[in-house]
Amino acid sequence: MNSNEPQSPSEFWEDRYQSAEQIWSGKVNRVLEEVAGSLPPGTALDLGCGEGGDVVWLARRGWAVTGIDISPTAVERAAAAADAAGVGGRVEFVAADLTTLPAGRYDLVTASFLHAPVGVELPRIAILKQAAERVAAGGHLLVTGHAAFPPWADVPDHEYEFASPQEEIELLGLGDQWEVLAAELRPREATSPSGEQTTLEDAVILLRRRH
Ligand SMILES: C[S@@+](CC[C@H](N)C(=O)[O-])C[C@H]1O[C@@H](n2cnc3c(N)ncnc32)[C@H](O)[C@@H]1O
Repeated sequence: MNSNEPQSPSEFWEDRYQSAEQIWSGKVNRVLEEVAGSLPPGTALDLGCGEGGDVVWLARRGWAVTGIDISPTAVERAAAAADAAGVGGRVEFVAADLTTLPAGRYDLVTASFLHAPVGVELPRIAILKQAAERVAAGGHLLVTGHAAFPPWADVPDHEYEFASPQEEIELLGLGDQWEVLAAELRPREATSPSGEQTTLEDAVILLRRRH
């Protein structure tokens, strides 16, 4: 994740998606599958939904899902994936910057790998604070991120530090109406760009808003 010249987030991400027909696997992220698999379907908001793998999985399980992403190309692909999966009627996609979220409350607000390369602006904590306000009483906020750069990344560690799940919860400063269900690192099997199998760690925060 390296960037020499500053680029606006919308330019960066739109260029990134236009650089290839598909960027991500199209599959649900493992942590979301594990967490939401045991929740009753309701309404969900996916922050930085990319090409829609998580949105489509949730919709297939009966959730009514809104996916937001800054890249119009990503959102188009996500909508096409939802149509192809036959769940187009249960999803809505918005091409927008997450710094302004739509009104409304959701049973689940989820963000999977809401990160940006070094040099591309992303006010992650401010976005997650706003997102927490969109969680309905009794609902969940699930944030899954990288715990560290993968071994193949060409960014020296000292250029960027990932907050631990506990540190991120403290940065969110959400108060006692929130119950912490998980703040932990979870291992995930991954394949490097050169095809080697490796184990990465995901940083996971799962919070529930008390009634
Ligand atoms: C690493 S990708 C993860 C995509 C998807 N959640 C997944 O797990 O496959 C990060 C996503 O966040 C989006 N994003 C980054 N900054 C954003 C912002 N300010 N507003 C909306 N989306 C943003 C990017 O366009 C990109 O699709």
